[in-house]
Amino acid sequence: MAGLVLKHIYKVYSGRNTQKKRSIKALVNKITKKQEQKPAVEKRSGKFVAVKDFNMEIEDGEFIVFVGPSGCGKSTTIRMIAGLEDITGGELYIDGVLVNDIAPKERDIAMVFQSYALYPHMTAQQNIEFALKLRKLPVEKKDKDGNPVLAIDKKKIKELKQKLLNVQYDLEDAQDEETKALLSERKAAIEKDIEYYSNTPVQAYVYRHMKKEDIAAKVQWAAKVLGIEELLDNKPAEMSGGQRQRIALGRAMVRGPKVFLLDEPLSNLDAKLRASMRMEIVKLHNELKTTFIYVTHDQVEAMTMGTRIVVMKLGVVQQIDTPTNLYDYPDNKFVAGFIGTPQMNFMDVKIKKSGSKLKTEFEGGQVVNFDLSKLRKIDQSLLDGGEHEVTLGIRGENIKIAAAEAKSGSYLDTTLSVKEILGGTTQLFIKLSEGGAEYIVSLSERNDYMSGDTVRLTFDEKYIHLFDKETELSLMGRETGN
Ligand SMILES: Nc1ncnc2c1ncn2[C@@H]1O[C@H](COP(=O)(O)OP(=O)(O)OP(=O)(O)O)[C@@H](O)[C@H]1O
Ligand SMILES: [Mg+2]
Repeated sequence: MAGLVLKHIYKVYSGRNTQKKRSIKALVNKITKKQEQKPAVEKRSGKFVAVKDFNMEIEDGEFIVFVGPSGCGKSTTIRMIAGLEDITGGELYIDGVLVNDIAPKERDIAMVFQSYALYPHMTAQQNIEFALKLRKLPVEKKDKDGNPVLAIDKKKIKELKQKLLNVQYDLEDAQDEETKALLSERKAAIEKDIEYYSNTPVQAYVYRHMKKEDIAAKVQWAAKVLGIEELLDNKPAEMSGGQRQRIALGRAMVRGPKVFLLDEPLSNLDAKLRASMRMEIVKLHNELKTTFIYVTHDQVEAMTMGTRIVVMKLGVVQQIDTPTNLYDYPDNKFVAGFIGTPQMNFMDVKIKKSGSKLKTEFEGGQVVNFDLSKLRKIDQSLLDGGEHEVTLGIRGENIKIAAAEAKSGSYLDTTLSVKEILGGTTQLFIKLSEGGAEYIVSLSERNDYMSGDTVRLTFDEKYIHLFDKETELSLMGRETGN
């Protein structure tokens, strides 16, 4: 079990396949080739910042979800944590240890992917125990008197030299000063490590296979927790998608990792199975109490599973918070729109403080005077008595049919376009003006409105959001009352 710290983590892709292991020969070839070419040809515009300044502290045992649209850098971040992807800049700590230059297999991390990647010719049992059988565990080397044996760690130095080569390569490709600075810093850190390990004998290890009975006990334990004891003799082809994903989880579990990384593990399953597997994974986390990091682009998955959620967009973290806080207090319009279905309504409004009221003019000219004491705290600069154009956000379920006695200035008259009866809720698609934008209202009670009818609506003030039109940042605090 372990906590993680991500400090100013960057990933810059240079436009070349960084996964390929680079050799000195390749580097020499490249330099020779470069000298032969005209400089113009060498100019590349392949630089791509996939993750920008990611900062987070993850407590031991948390269930963290990374969520965001396709291409926002979720997989890249999780792969950097696993060590499958080099970190361009910043520092990654696992259990307080800087792991930037520690090989993936030494990070004590298990990763589960979308594709289960089970061996088809092996039974479930064989799939689960496969890695354990291959694995050799380090045992501290002692001399005959039981004293620790120290030696220069040549393997470590070799790994670091490979890293150094990769960084040198990236440095050559780097297009801009910022990336160059990040990589130079990394280069210096690795050189320092090489120097240290070259001159400092460290504890030597011997590597031993795990005992057969220990492996069997681990497989039995995982099978019991996952409820797959009956399946152990089956091959993947004889199993359902959910069962296969359970085997993949078992394979990760038996390694007893400090951290579980799961990259969209359920996206190959149908909706019903996904919902049940979702709960299984949450239960598994409750049982193991290990740190989990789970990647998804499905906000429902994120809301139901995470103790905290990281919302990302274009490589930049938008907000890190609990599911309810993200829902209730989004820091910006993107988070507000991304979390929750149906999506939050966004309306262009003009606001002006008038005594104890916030005079709010909507598209089409209707005005509602909201009670300032009932609204969440508003950025003081907006309450200077002048008129300000902002974006008002309100979720469909926080809009209600106005009471018959509602006073003028407390409601909006809207026109119903379409009504959808979903059973438990009824959704009204309404407009504030002819040809204007369509907004959605989610009602828990049924009604007799028909298309074209006027529907008189009020907003629940506590759930009104205001966003800056330019920066899209929230203009409100979390507590109510102005
Ligand atoms: N090896 C690579 N070389 C260059 N660019 C890459 C490489 N791998 C990923 N990228 C780019 O980095 C960005 C982030 O990719 P990433 O796979 O992290 O996204 P993601 O959030 O996991 O998306 P998805 O939900 O589609 O899996 C994307 O724009 C992608 O095109
Ligand atoms: Mg991905």
